[in-house]
Amino acid sequence: MKEIYEPKFVEKLFDNMSNSYSRMNYISSFGFSERWRRLFVEEVGIEKGKTVVDLMTGMGECWKYIVLKGDTNAKLIALDFSTEMIHRAEKNKAKLEGSKIEILKENVFNNSIPNETADVVVSGFGLKTFNHEQLGELANQIHRILKTNGRFSLIDVSVPKNKILKLFYMFYLKNIIPILGRVFLGSPETYKMLGVYTEEFGDAQHVYRIFSRPEFEIEYIEYFYGCATGIKGKKIK
Ligand SMILES: C[S@@+](CC[C@H](N)C(=O)[O-])C[C@H]1O[C@@H](n2cnc3c(N)ncnc32)[C@H](O)[C@@H]1O
Repeated sequence: MKEIYEPKFVEKLFDNMSNSYSRMNYISSFGFSERWRRLFVEEVGIEKGKTVVDLMTGMGECWKYIVLKGDTNAKLIALDFSTEMIHRAEKNKAKLEGSKIEILKENVFNNSIPNETADVVVSGFGLKTFNHEQLGELANQIHRILKTNGRFSLIDVSVPKNKILKLFYMFYLKNIIPILGRVFLGSPETYKMLGVYTEEFGDAQHVYRIFSRPEFEIEYIEYFYGCATGIKGKKIK
């Protein structure tokens, strides 16, 4: 396996980035990341009283779009394997008092979530650090965790198809982001990896193919001219 997809490598990367991740994420998507989070969670339509699993939760960046106000019967299970991200997620949980949030510090490929727990599974920006084989295993896990008729929505930053947009966006990711990474973090190398992963990821077309199984009904989705892409779907059997 390429080193950049080794869980240890990814875990360390996010441990190192945790301090500046939110700011950098916002900047590297020109402020779009928040809009994309809201949109991809809206795609799945979360109803009151449901159990939602947020995979690769980071420090809980998607929670404000998942947790419905005053919905005391709902439950959110949030999973990530980075010690530092989880540490920050615990702090963010304290801010959402009254909501039932269970945080799991686990590898998604070896998680303790029981079969058929979730009405909804979401995952924001956690796809690009997986190779094809790992995405196949992610599909297995999402199928296992979801109840029948349960729905899911996944998104990640992507290389847009439009040539001008692509040139501009990749230049920004590969050259400007590492400079900003140095300013915020003293580590341009860490943030260079965002460009490396995004370029390798391309877009979610391969995720769509990998999830194209008889047990799922799925749909491919582009956000802002393909600068982010994802899939949404339903477990039908
Ligand atoms: C780009 S961040 C996304 C965080 C958040 N969901 C968001 O919307 O910004 C990706 C997260 O996935 C986590 N991650 C990557 N591979 C994982 C794995 N195999 N198991 C659990 N978490 C993983 C990383 O630790 C990191 O916090």
